[in-house]
This record gives sequence, C-alpha cells and structure tokens, in this order.
Amino acid sequence: MKTTTYRTHTCGELTKAETDRTVRLAGWVDSARDHGGVIFVDLRDRYGRTQCVFKPENSPEAHALAERLHNQYVIQVEGTVRPRPDDAINPKLPTGEIEVHVASAEVLAASDTPPFEVTDDVELGEDIRLRHRYLDLRRPTMQQNLLTRALIVRTIRRTLEAEDFIDIETPLLTKSTPEGARDFLVPSRMNPGRFYALPQSPQLFKQILMIAGYDRYYQIAKCLRDEDLRADRQPEFTQLDVEMAFITEEDIMAVTERVVAAVVKTVLDVDVELPFPRLTFAEAMRDYGSDKPDRRFEMKLADAGEVARASEFRIFREAAEAGGHVRGLKVPGGKQFSRKDIDGLATFAADFGAKGLAWLRTETDGLTGPIAKFFTPEQLAEMQQTFAADAGDLLLFVADEPAVVAASLGALRVHLGHRLGIVPEDKPNFCWVTEFPMFEYDVDEKRYVAIHHPFTSPMPEDADRLESEPLSVRARAYDLVLNGIELGGGSIRIHRQDVQQRVFRMLGIGKEEADVKFGFLLEALRYGAPPHGGIALGLDRFVRLLLGESSIRETIAFPKTQRAQCLMTGAPSTVDERSLRDLHIRLRPEATS
Ligand code: AMO
Ligand code: AMP
Repeated sequence: MKTTTYRTHTCGELTKAETDRTVRLAGWVDSARDHGGVIFVDLRDRYGRTQCVFKPENSPEAHALAERLHNQYVIQVEGTVRPRPDDAINPKLPTGEIEVHVASAEVLAASDTPPFEVTDDVELGEDIRLRHRYLDLRRPTMQQNLLTRALIVRTIRRTLEAEDFIDIETPLLTKSTPEGARDFLVPSRMNPGRFYALPQSPQLFKQILMIAGYDRYYQIAKCLRDEDLRADRQPEFTQLDVEMAFITEEDIMAVTERVVAAVVKTVLDVDVELPFPRLTFAEAMRDYGSDKPDRRFEMKLADAGEVARASEFRIFREAAEAGGHVRGLKVPGGKQFSRKDIDGLATFAADFGAKGLAWLRTETDGLTGPIAKFFTPEQLAEMQQTFAADAGDLLLFVADEPAVVAASLGALRVHLGHRLGIVPEDKPNFCWVTEFPMFEYDVDEKRYVAIHHPFTSPMPEDADRLESEPLSVRARAYDLVLNGIELGGGSIRIHRQDVQQRVFRMLGIGKEEADVKFGFLLEALRYGAPPHGGIALGLDRFVRLLLGESSIRETIAFPKTQRAQCLMTGAPSTVDERSLRDLHIRLRPEATS
C-alpha cells in the first residue's frame, strides 16, 4: 500500500522473505560508514531502518554518490535484497537479517549539517528541539509518541462510533466558555470593537447539541486557555469531549471506562479491571489529602485530632481547638530518616503552607522524639495504634487549617512514595472521584466560584441548601484520575432554567450579566432540554501517562514553551500597523516597546 513511484517498500518492512527481490527505497540517511571501500548507509523513514550497501563493483556511480552522502540527506535507492552475513545480523532490528545491495541511487534533497544529531541518544535542551521541531520529530522516540497518539485517537473513535456516538464540530470563534482560565480573544475586523473568544472547551455547544437532540456526541476538540503553564498544561490542548442525554452519572462513567480500557488494551496490552474504584471527594481528601489520589500505593493519612486536643502540645491543641486538623502520615521504615532528612521534608511541606512538620519515631518500646514529652503514655499508645505504627516507622504530622493539612500531607505522601520506591509503575491505576463540592470561596475575590463549572447540577438532596449553606452542597461532578493525575472531569448538567439561574446567582452572576454572557443557553433551556451530562478527558495527558513521558510537550507535535511561544514559527509575533488598523486596535505604549 505504501508503494509509490519513489519506493516499492518502506525502510521497516524488508525481511529474508524478499531475498533476491529488486526493491526501491526512499528515506533519510541515518548514518553512512565507509568500511574500506564498501559504504554502509542506514536509510530511515517513519517505519524503520534498512541497511543499504554500496559496493564499487555493483555500481561505481552509486558508490561515488554514497561517498558524498551526509546524515539527513534524502535519497532514493534501487537494489537487491540480500541476506546479511551471519556475523552482521542485528536481531534488534526487524530488517536486521537483510541488507539492500544498491545498483543505483539518487539524492532527492541534500541537508545542511543539522544543529543536533537526530537520534534518541543525545541530551538536548528543549529550546533547540522546539526551534527545529521537524528534526526533533524525526527522532525515533518522538515518532513513536506521535504514532501512539494517533493510535489512541483511532481507538477512541472506533469505540465511540461503535456505540453510536457522532462527531460534531463546534466553533473556534465563539463567546467565552468559562472553565476557570483567561480567554484568548480574537478581534473582529467586521465588527469594530468586538472580540471573539476562543473556546476553553466546547461546553456550552455540547449542551446545546443535547437540547438539539443529538444525544450521543463526541469530539476530539482543541481547547484554548490562557493560563500559567506547567509540564502538564499547554495554552492549546486537546480534549476527548463527550456529552450524552437521558443518562445518569453511571452511564457516562461506564462509556468512559470502556473507551479508556480499549485504549489501554491497544497501547499497553494491559487489561484494566472495570469498573474503576470510586471515592467521594471527602474520602479522597481524608485518606490521601488530594482530590486526585495516587492509589498505586497505600500510605493513607490518619487523624490525630482527638489526641491532639487532649495533649499538652500547644501547636496541636490550639490547631484542633480552632477547628483545624491535626493529621499525620506513617512512613514505613522511616526511622532511617535523619534529622536533616526530616528538615528537608519540612521545607518541602512548607511549600504547601505547612508551618512545621512534627514527628515521632517508633521504637520497640513505643513512640519517641522531641515532642513525645507533651503526650501521656496512653496518648502515645493511642497514636501508635491509630497509625498502626511498628518499630522502625516514622510518623509525620501537620497541624493547620484543613486545606493546608491536606495539601501538605498529600504532597508529602506522593513525594515519600517515590522516594521510598513503593510506587509501582507497571500498571495504570484509575479511579473516579465523585461528589465534589459545588462551590469554593475565593477569599481574594470575596465570592463563591464553581469548582467544576457553573453548568454543573447540584446533588438533588443538597439542592435546597444552595442559598443557605452553599459550601455544603455537593455537585453531580466526577473526575477520572490516573496515577495521581487528573485525566478528565465531567458532570451531570443543569437542565432546568430556574436551577441554572439560582446557581448563577450564587456565583455572583446577576440576571443582566447572565443574559449577556449565557443568554443563549438560558433561552435554549426554555425549549425542551433533556437531562444530560458529559465528560472531557485531556488527550495530551492521557498519551503522556501511557507513554510514561515527563511532559505533555512530548506528545504534541508543535507545542509551546512555558512562555506560550512557538519557537519554530516565532508565534506570537508583532503585526504591522495596517493590520492593527483593520482590526480597529491601537496598542498601549507598554506593549509596543
Ligand atoms: P476540565 O476543565 O476539567 O473540564 O478539563 C478536562 C481535562 O482537560 C485537561 N486539561 C488540560 N490539558 C492540557 N493543558 C491544559 N491547559 C488543560 N486544561 C485541562 C485535563 C482535564 O482533566 N468542559 C469540562 C468538561 C465537562 O464538564 O464535560 C472541562 O473542560 O486532563
Ligand atoms: P517549635 O515549638 O516551633 O520548635 O516546634 C516544635 C516542632 O513542631 C517542630 O518539629 C516543628 O516543625 C513542629 N511544628 C511547628 N508548627 C507545626 C504545625 N503547624 N504542624 C505540625 N508541626 C509543627
């Protein structure tokens, strides 16, 4: 199928079965070695590598051409497939048993000396890789990554299409779709002073598609969010976006699980067990200090609040009395940690707001350490029991407001898991986190904000507390977590206009603002909106986690830097005065310098 005018085979497919056949190959010179007159050229394309042999006696012209070849030249060769001599067989290469004895060759394109060697064996700075991404993408690892990404997308499509989902495109030039980040704005030439927003997700369109009657929608959707970037965040990224009507949480979770299981089977040949375990948000925070628990290892947090309250240790007692938490973590075999190690852990925890890190060590005769003197023997015994601590274990404690305790101990748990080497890397570990709170209080902005998004339905049994006790209201929202990383999230949506308006009100979005921003949704809700819900999985993250890569930039063909720049094209770039004038834009002085 890949036969074209330029080639009869790819560089990855010839074996002994083709011995003595005349073949044509085209590709890039991966290496050229002159072995006393005979020149060996490894020819590479996306399918593999084939050794081509240039002997003067076979073709003096081809041999002369081979003498001029450099890496990354694009050439075409014609020759005969021959078995390699026994001592030259390379069992690691699918084409390792043969070589092509070249009868004629042609240079299709020369190459300058590349700024780095196009192999997996070099350590390269990211800037140079991104600047010359076309060379970087030629490297086998990157090719494998992009091929795996394509395989994942294909598997997703196949699975969903087999279940009657239809792919519908939604616009890029649209109105703000709030997902908690800033919008990228696009000025409208035809409508002076007006801007489109690029979608942070297709959220409102997919809900409207449900109202329009397309009850199983999916899309591999580009989403754009102007936010501070990290290893697992890009300003434009891809979601697998799904929405269904006449369903409950169970239906969405089940479809998602089937898609995810099919992908894991295809890519890793691993059977994941279904259904995925579920935890409520409250359970996840209690046991793991995180709403994206890494459940590949145990080391759960435990509560020391009661002992703390009764103890003489002022820091603990005061925290407990002030409504805070005093919680801890058992580090199995942590007795080996020196004071300096523990100081290091305290510094680590401080980054998450912990004001200190108290500790106790378990000896054969009980708990010891500098704070042991503040507890009665009974209290120490109770503590040891709470944590099921054995001789040699170390207990670490943080006393603070609940959010700080969870964040610091949760992060410490993951850090220690890796440091102790108790995190199995071999099998993907999925879980659902459910029953998220609807709102959190933003102290800076002095208002409630939606934890998922403003279109998420409250749990029916909590809905009458929306106004009276908003922080106690749980949402019909769920996150899918893979190896301690949020892979996706979704919710059952509000399909009643009155409930939607109440939630807007709680979020400080008045009637007028709601009409301006989401009037079209509120209006659509008046014309027969079925119960519906959906989910979005971060495709880049999914690919990254399955590949075991450190950053989603390794899974995206043309990613941006931490400063949201594309080093290859130079975007974003300045534009000329004329274009700005057409767009009715004048730059502020600070933007022009
Ligand atoms: P949410 O905002 O949770 O939900 O996004 C869903 C998933 O998208 C991925 N993701 C990102 N990946 C890379 N770079 C980013 N900047 C980035 N931001 C998010 C994450 C995340 O879990 N409309 C809702 C979904 C719904 O309710 O159906 C939404 O977008 O993996
Ligand atoms: P100090 O009395 O400040 O010397 O603290 C005694 C021990 O308690 C030290 O190990 C501190 O790291 C620890 N500590 C201080 N504040 C906290 C806190 N909020 N939570 C847990 N441990 C703390």
